[in-house]
Amino acid sequence: MKTLLEKNKEWVQRVEQEQPGFFERLSQQHAPELLWIGCSDARVPANQIVGLLPGALFVHRNIANMVVHTDLNCLSVVHFAVDTLKVKYLIVCGHYGCGGVRASLEELRPGLVFHWLRHITDVREKHAELLSRAKDHEARVDLLCELNVAEQVRNLCRTSTLEDAWNSGSELTVYGLIYNIRDGLLQDLDLTVTGKGKCEAVYESFLERMRSKV
Ligand code: CO
Repeated sequence: MKTLLEKNKEWVQRVEQEQPGFFERLSQQHAPELLWIGCSDARVPANQIVGLLPGALFVHRNIANMVVHTDLNCLSVVHFAVDTLKVKYLIVCGHYGCGGVRASLEELRPGLVFHWLRHITDVREKHAELLSRAKDHEARVDLLCELNVAEQVRNLCRTSTLEDAWNSGSELTVYGLIYNIRDGLLQDLDLTVTGKGKCEAVYESFLERMRSKV
């Protein structure tokens, strides 16, 4: 704990040196333009990997970056981000080598989290044929990580919050990204959805690309 508090002081000094008055200014407003939905994995820290300081991202993280239709926590974050904060961009960011995705694929039952991972198992079973074509186990894990992003983008687009916002003319864009923990690079999966009713075509063409790639 001592180390954490010291590191915190160092960080505050560094930020204030580069941008004097940063925290004072930030305390006056909370106006992020982006919502980030990512994995809890310690290797995928939202702000750091896109080089953004506090204030820029509204963040929701859970195991395997899922948008589950009955998850009041995630739904509340999405609703608050869209309805109150008026974010313009919503990002679902998966990552290769995701432990949650791997556990589902390897049919591990790591305690309570097993129930949460059933949602990934649904994705796995839905795309069983495509996954069976992966060249080896690691490729299969990474392919399921990508397919999971596509499914979560789709789930996000189908929430009542997004549908209502698009219906009322809000300009919201949803993106699907994947992060590579092996080199630190983000990749756009071309799952960009800009309006109600536009998700299915984006999703289908993503699957088509996956089928021709694997
Ligand atoms: Co993960």
